Amino acid sequence: MRSLLTDMLLQHLSARTEGPLHRRLYDCIRLAILDGDIRAGSRLPPTRDLAIELTLSRNTVSAAYEQLLAEGYIFTRAGSGTFVTDHMPDGAMAPVNEQQPACERLAGDEFSARGANLLARSGASPHQWGAFMPGVPDVSSFPHGLWRRIHSRLIRRIKPDYLTYSRMGGSPELQQALVDYLRVARSVNCGAEQIIITEGTHQAVDLLAKMLCNPGDRAWIEEPSYWGMRNVLTINGVDVQPVPVDDQGLKPPEGSETPPRLICVTPSHQYPTGAVMSLQRRQRLLALAQEHNAWVIEDDYDSEFRFSGNPIPALQSLTPQAPVIYIGTFSKTLYPGLRISYMVLPQTLAREMRVAHAELYRGGHWITQLALAQFIAEGHYASHIRRMRLLYGKRRAVLSRLILAHLGPDALRDDSNAGLHLVMSLPDEADDILLSQAAGRQGVYVRPLSTYYLGSARKKGLLLGYACVDEEQIESAFMTLLACMTQPAPVEPR
Ligand SMILES: Cc1ncc(COP(=O)(O)O)c(C=O)c1O
Repeated sequence: MRSLLTDMLLQHLSARTEGPLHRRLYDCIRLAILDGDIRAGSRLPPTRDLAIELTLSRNTVSAAYEQLLAEGYIFTRAGSGTFVTDHMPDGAMAPVNEQQPACERLAGDEFSARGANLLARSGASPHQWGAFMPGVPDVSSFPHGLWRRIHSRLIRRIKPDYLTYSRMGGSPELQQALVDYLRVARSVNCGAEQIIITEGTHQAVDLLAKMLCNPGDRAWIEEPSYWGMRNVLTINGVDVQPVPVDDQGLKPPEGSETPPRLICVTPSHQYPTGAVMSLQRRQRLLALAQEHNAWVIEDDYDSEFRFSGNPIPALQSLTPQAPVIYIGTFSKTLYPGLRISYMVLPQTLAREMRVAHAELYRGGHWITQLALAQFIAEGHYASHIRRMRLLYGKRRAVLSRLILAHLGPDALRDDSNAGLHLVMSLPDEADDILLSQAAGRQGVYVRPLSTYYLGSARKKGLLLGYACVDEEQIESAFMTLLACMTQPAPVEPR
């Protein structure tokens, strides 16, 4: 079998058609060394072997090696072979990649309308850790030892099934573990065949938008809402209509010319305000969905973290055959990089949605899903959540005390005793975008509340995630943020 080096040289040789063969081979190897494709210190194949693999004469390869040797690109070690030198010879050309002109950006109109639309509204932050990054849990507390033991156990008895494409919407073991967990923790009633495991909530929403909506179909989304959900809907051609939220959650409009196809809500902890949807609203929403033949997407993203009061059962559990698609994620309870979330579909949709899931995404990561199933079934998931609740409860208390002490009760209007972030309200005239940029320059990452709105009536505030900050660091990070609030910030283009 040919080596990777030979494959690479063959491709480069066929691209260079001018000059004698030994010179072309010398050029290919030299440029591969300069580009870093052949690393310093690596051993080149013996001339005889390379000649056979390239179907060249040995003399041709020897001549190329001799030239490289004479110029100091390679050296020989008696009895060991020929190696690439660590120090490039004087006058060696700069790597080809560096010589190429800087890559020019594509003009906006060279992307598809869909692509340009996505780029224009992108919201993902490059910072995913530290004070006060909202939405990020304390990933450093994950019980790696336990996880590794479960994994090793599985790998000892590996089956071919675990290594091929995922079928049936994910691992049946994880689907069953979720059936049991959701029944107890969230009162969700379903069978394993109704669950599809997805790689994140975005993937679940993408699948739903593609399968349930035609271009131009309307979705009600909460105002304010999670930018991720609305972006995925929008780039799938769904017409997103913001519907205001009050202290009981989404407040359905009295009359709507275009009935919604989807109604997207976060009833147990409205994102980002924290409002809990009242029972009356839940019932009204289900009735409306039935009336309009619409689907409710219930995003239950961090319902596990309530610090007082009773857990609120899922909307999905309110009536049998509710027109609700329930979405949950392990991003907040375990860690976001795990990329495992799930949706519970009504029986009427489940079979076809599994087919669509396999067609579009060809899932994988069965071993991880199996490990997670065992992690849940053996009770580790419940204990981890209990432990994290205590930890987050303390961090939350420290942060809310600081906000109240320095800014007064008006700054914590939306305190809901749940979730992994607090919303610190700011006066209407404040520029929360500039403020979050100024804080970011000091290493404190917050998100501006106004950017969660689509319409022009935007409340001002900052989202402060407390989950991924040690208690001892909360105060100093908060003081940095306060200092930014009292200093005039340089104006930046938005
Ligand atoms: C409202 C909401 N839903 C869901 C998610 C989780 O998404 P994922 O499962 O893709 O990590 C987030 C992440 O921040 C969120 O804010």
